[in-house]
Formats: sequence, structure tokens, C-alpha cells
Amino acid sequence: MVSIYQTIMRRAVSSSILRNPLRRYSPSFVFVESPFARCSLLGGSPLKSFLSTTLTTQTKGGDVVIKFPFSPTQAHAYASVLERAIFTKWSKKFLDAMPMPLGGEKVLDAACGTGATSREIAMRLGDEDRFSKVVGVDASEGMVSEARKKGREDEQKGAAPIEYIVSPMEEFTTTTTNNNTKEFDRAYCHQGAQFFSDRDRALANIHKSLKPGAHFNLAVWAPVKGQKLFEILRDCLIECGKEEWVPILLKPFSYAGDHESTSRVDGVDALETDLIKAGFENVDVVFERDTVRFDSLDEALKVISVAPFGVELMNDAKLFEKFTRKFKTKMLTEGSDVGDRERTNDDLSQRIKSGTDGGDEVVVTMMSFFAHCNKPWAAGGIQSSSFKC
Ligand SMILES: C[S@@+](CC[C@H](N)C(=O)[O-])C[C@H]1O[C@@H](n2cnc3c(N)ncnc32)[C@H](O)[C@@H]1O
Repeated sequence: MVSIYQTIMRRAVSSSILRNPLRRYSPSFVFVESPFARCSLLGGSPLKSFLSTTLTTQTKGGDVVIKFPFSPTQAHAYASVLERAIFTKWSKKFLDAMPMPLGGEKVLDAACGTGATSREIAMRLGDEDRFSKVVGVDASEGMVSEARKKGREDEQKGAAPIEYIVSPMEEFTTTTTNNNTKEFDRAYCHQGAQFFSDRDRALANIHKSLKPGAHFNLAVWAPVKGQKLFEILRDCLIECGKEEWVPILLKPFSYAGDHESTSRVDGVDALETDLIKAGFENVDVVFERDTVRFDSLDEALKVISVAPFGVELMNDAKLFEKFTRKFKTKMLTEGSDVGDRERTNDDLSQRIKSGTDGGDEVVVTMMSFFAHCNKPWAAGGIQSSSFKC
């Protein structure tokens, strides 16, 4: 059922007061204090039960070993929230846009996380050729253990086998793999390169692990501007006095450097520069935009639980309540600063619809760069230049 609070906010959205473009920066707008809001936001929030089952759980051994950048609990939250809403869809989109993996290939998935891209590659490789194989590599034990769990849970019929390895890409060599996977025929890295502590070294290792002429496909999120969910989360942190967490929140959107000042052009330049420096050629970067969908506002709010500061934010009850209120208010109202005639697919009516479960379905736009390149053939050899082969 749609709560009274949501109904009130929906009505408020259509009012001309909230359409004032200045309201976003006006303290009087920041929150409409209402008893309905309080009971709707605090009473029996699904987020609360989510937190108690995931973020306070200890591992069997007693201690949670935090490996940068994802602890086991964050990895679990990632697998159940982010992968479902964002990464499964975007992994498919990424693979669709890049040259198709071919049966018989050995494919590297660098920074594989919980395996969304690895599983999709394995499906596309198929099981007809016994040499087909995917090797997923990630620095986080927690993420790899979720990937392995998922591999067992939804055993993929007709898919190539997947081997998962825990290793930072900065340390990765092909000797780390089982069964002497000497060199890869193809490599992917979906939304991981932003986090590499030594990007040059990590990209150089990917380059080294590939056969001459092999394709490498890399995806990184575009700068945050226009990616409303994360802009709203950023604004909520600032309004809650937690500016210091903003660069961490926006790390995934900061491939080219500073999270606020970089443009899309900077993003493309940075990708081209880094890939050429690592030894790749025929670099081609495309910009993609698509929506992601959460079942409800509570589900969208869970995104914050995956951030490195998520536990600290949620353990501070007062701060988290304030953050939650601001988040919901903004999600239900922003977008109305777009004039009627300028409304786009990203406007409020598109972003928040009444879901079939009675909650508010949240649909937000995300934007990414997809880069494609290849390792050169040996000097004097045939140059690979075909993008779609
Ligand atoms: C946003 S997740 C993306 C995961 C996966 N590619 C996907 O699309 O679902 C980023 C991943 O990069 C991994 N990562 C960060 N730094 C890394 C490094 N230096 N080497 C390998 N993996 C790294 C993290 O552990 C995390 O799993």
C-alpha cells in the first residue's frame, strides 16, 4: 500500500511551491516535518531488518576480516542489492556492446566482484567447446566467496566453467591460475578499474596476460552529473554534515580524477591515455545511458550499505534517521525542478512509479563508458582493427 506520507509527497510534487528551481538549495525546503513522515520512515522499515541480518553479522571465525574495498557483509549487501538492481543488467549491456566472446576461448574477468559479468561471459561462451573457460579475479575475498556461492546456487546449464581467484590485479599473473592458463584470448573489466590502487600496474598485468591481438573491454561509470540516485545520496551526505564521505561515495564515478570537476570528455581522455600507456591499441570508447530499477525507495536506500562508510552511518541512529528522511524526501520530490516542457525520461514521473507490490518502484538513469581495444600483434604481424568481429 502507498503510505499516507508518499501520497502527501506526491501531491506536494505537483504543487508549484516545490517546482521552484531554487528549492533544492533552500533550507526551508529541506524537509517537510510531519508525523506521517516519521511513522512511515521509521516504523518497520524493511531496511532495518536488512541491516540487522547483514551488516551486524559476524563471520564463523568471529571476526569480520575487512579486505579493501569490500568486507564480507558489504559483499553480501552488494550481491543482494547492487548486483540485482544494477550490475546484472549493466554487465549484459556491456557484453552486448563489445565483440562477442567465442566458444573455445579462455577469458579473464578482472575485478569480477560477485561474478555478474563472469557468469554472463560463461553463458555466452557456452559449454560446447571443452576449452572454453572464464577466470574471474578480484582483490576481495568477500566478493569472491559470494561469486562462488552464486555459482553453486544457480549452476548454469550450457555455460563454460568459471574459476575464481582472489588477487589484486596489481599482483596478478597467469601463473596464479589453475591448470596453466598461460594466456587469455580476451579480457573484460566491468566497473572495477576505478578502484585499482595502482592503475598502471593493474592494466599492464591485464595486457601481459593476453595473447597478441586479444581484445580487452573495460567499463567505468561516467562522472556523476545526471546520475540522480547518486547525486541525491551525495546531497544527503552534505546536508547531514558528512562531506568527507562524498569522495568515497563517488569513487565509482571518478575514473578521471576529482569527482566534481571532471567532465565526460575527461573520462574518455583518461581511458584512452591509460589503455595506450598499458600497451593497447585501437582504443575506442562509447558512452552508454540506461535505467536501473529498484523495487522501492527502501531498496534504493540500501545502496548506501555497500559504501565503506555505510556501517558507520547506519550505526549512528540519529544520523541515519536524518539521512533516510532527506533521501526519501528528495527522491520523491526532485526531478520537479525540470520545467514541464523540458521533462525527459529522467523526470520524477518516470523515476518513481507505483510498484505492483504497493511500494514505490524507483527507476533511475545510470551512465557508463565502454572502452574496447586490443593487444597489438607482434611487431610486423597482422594488425587487428575490426571492432565487431
Ligand atoms: C563495483 S565492483 C564490480 C564487480 C563486477 N565486475 C561487477 O560488474 O559486478 C568493483 C570490484 O573491484 C574489485 N577491486 C577493487 N580493487 C581491485 C584490485 N586492485 N584488483 C582486483 N579487484 C579489485 C572490488 O573488490 C570489487 O569487487
